[in-house]
Amino acid sequence: MNSDKLALPVGTTLDRFIMRKQEDFPYATGELSQLLRDIALATKIVNREINRSGLIDIAGAYGNRNVQGEDQQKLDVIANIRFIRALRNGGEVCTIISEEDDELIQTGNNQGKYVVAIDPLDGSSNIDVNVSIGTIFSVYRRVSPTGREGTVADCLQPGTHQVAAGYVIYGSSTMLVYTTGNGVNGFTYEPSLGEFFLSHPDITTPATGTIYSVNEGSSESFSSGVTAFLQHCKKEAFSGRYIGSLVADFHRNLLKGGIYLYPATAKNPKGKLRLMYECNPLAFIVEQAGGRSSNGQRRTMEIEPQAHHERCPVFIGSKDLVLQAEAALAAETNEA
Ligand code: AHG
Ligand code: MN
Ligand code: MN
Repeated sequence: MNSDKLALPVGTTLDRFIMRKQEDFPYATGELSQLLRDIALATKIVNREINRSGLIDIAGAYGNRNVQGEDQQKLDVIANIRFIRALRNGGEVCTIISEEDDELIQTGNNQGKYVVAIDPLDGSSNIDVNVSIGTIFSVYRRVSPTGREGTVADCLQPGTHQVAAGYVIYGSSTMLVYTTGNGVNGFTYEPSLGEFFLSHPDITTPATGTIYSVNEGSSESFSSGVTAFLQHCKKEAFSGRYIGSLVADFHRNLLKGGIYLYPATAKNPKGKLRLMYECNPLAFIVEQAGGRSSNGQRRTMEIEPQAHHERCPVFIGSKDLVLQAEAALAAETNEA
């Protein structure tokens, strides 16, 4: 029987799920599968560090050092080190874009066919207050020949070229959600077993919703179109929900229906969020789940990136709500 006709049951382990999905592509070499497993492994380590983070200061008071003899470091630095190490050891990735590194990271795996863009720890201002945080990643196939370092052209591909994307939410439970362009699946971590299990098969997002998520502290500098859209949300008595961890806000809205927006503001005239490792991966996931992501004028994934840390405004979530936000912005342009 053809394995792609079989829906994998809830409770399937992530490893098995990845393996079975690979069988749908008879010529797949297994490298992308291995890359996803590398990320999952790093995720487990980062999850452990996060769970202990409340103890770091206490451990620090005793002059604690880790097994390498390094001083305790901030969690976003730790997460960055863990993901880079896992991807370097895996061998499938030639180059990494990380929020934590200004320059491209060459892994030394010049035969690696893939490029990864990653936000190792998203929502870092929430670490100290014990609120959900996350990791976001995106995978591209390199366009330059193998055998040498990855190039800028390999790293600046539009989101439509993504071959996989995902996020991890370190919340009341830890979940990994990912897509390879064939639907979205979510896995919940069972810490005592050290395994992710399929818990949310084939996630679809509601076409509309009643949640809007935005940092309204910046509303004085929102454009008239954004303000009009938010007025509409309030008139309809939507719930305002904003955690301040993009992954957590996105995840809730994905499951419940809603819209997350981070528009241009006086402080961040191009928006705050980063195209390559925040907006594009979540755009791929939301589209695969039936939703939409836009910079207000056009589909996020069609933006041609100019720089690997570039920012862009984002309107992401339920399709109808994103379309309404885009219409409000278009009306503002027409008025001008
Ligand atoms: P990071 O921790 O990776 O720098 O990302 C923080 C981002 C995102 O998670 C969140 O939605 C947004 O910043 C919050 O920004 P404001 O504090 O401006 O609302
Ligand atoms: Mn982030
Ligand atoms: Mn971050």
